[in-house]
Amino acid sequence: MNAQSGTLSSASAGQPAGAAVADWSPYAQRDGHPFDALYASLLPEIARLIGLYEQKRSALIPMAHLFQEHEGYVSANAMAAIAYQVGETPATVESTVSFYTLLYRKPVGKYVVQVCRNLSCLLNGAEEIMDYAREQLGIGHLETTADGLISYEEVECLAACDRAPCAQVNLEFVYDLTRERIDAMIAAIKGGTYEIAPLAQTAKPGRTWRVEQDNGRKSAGGMNVESPNNAGGIGDRSGLVMFDLIVGKAQYESRSNERLVHETTLRPELSENGHH
Ligand code: FES
Repeated sequence: MNAQSGTLSSASAGQPAGAAVADWSPYAQRDGHPFDALYASLLPEIARLIGLYEQKRSALIPMAHLFQEHEGYVSANAMAAIAYQVGETPATVESTVSFYTLLYRKPVGKYVVQVCRNLSCLLNGAEEIMDYAREQLGIGHLETTADGLISYEEVECLAACDRAPCAQVNLEFVYDLTRERIDAMIAAIKGGTYEIAPLAQTAKPGRTWRVEQDNGRKSAGGMNVESPNNAGGIGDRSGLVMFDLIVGKAQYESRSNERLVHETTLRPELSENGHH
């Protein structure tokens, strides 16, 4: 272990080149693996980011941006490294990264065009702008052109409603969109003269950067919860239904019922002992 770099030497790591992320730890360097070289080079900046906050986990999103800046997206390797560095589970990191449209979990185009589809923009013609942009780019929502140059996405309010309809290109604002501005933007991007810089692109993007979700049926409150009023459902916000179920004390039933969702058809039958 190299205490300064936080990594093992390649000889002691015992990892074959190209080992899958599931087998990899941020301690280990895989011979010739580009991510590991990037990770090692970013360790000082990672330490700086972590040092900015009282709690390590506060550096999670800044670190995700750091990796995205260098990789063009937040790879599975990056999420594993972040989890290790901030002391969180990989699931926590992935759920955080997946929450924000600003962070990509798969490679995207060198330019990501995000057109606002929210109220002010819609009232000012966003529908037509989006139709036109899709037509001119030849791609749809969450898709990337075949040459990997431009990704297109329709997003919620960008907080620039006074300049609607608007977009962000690589997170830079583009205001007062018209068909002509879309034409000029696409021409400049293709011609390499666009004023906004391209993103890093360390991997060729696929048709979409959407990460398919588990298609299993989900309940109103959580996995495998049939009713929102059941333990773990949205009617059990405080967890008391779950608690009562575990403790099995009938005297807690009214306390639980107070918190149930007010939808009688969904209200579960309670047995005499308060169990569902
Ligand atoms: S609705 Fe488009 S920026 Fe707010």
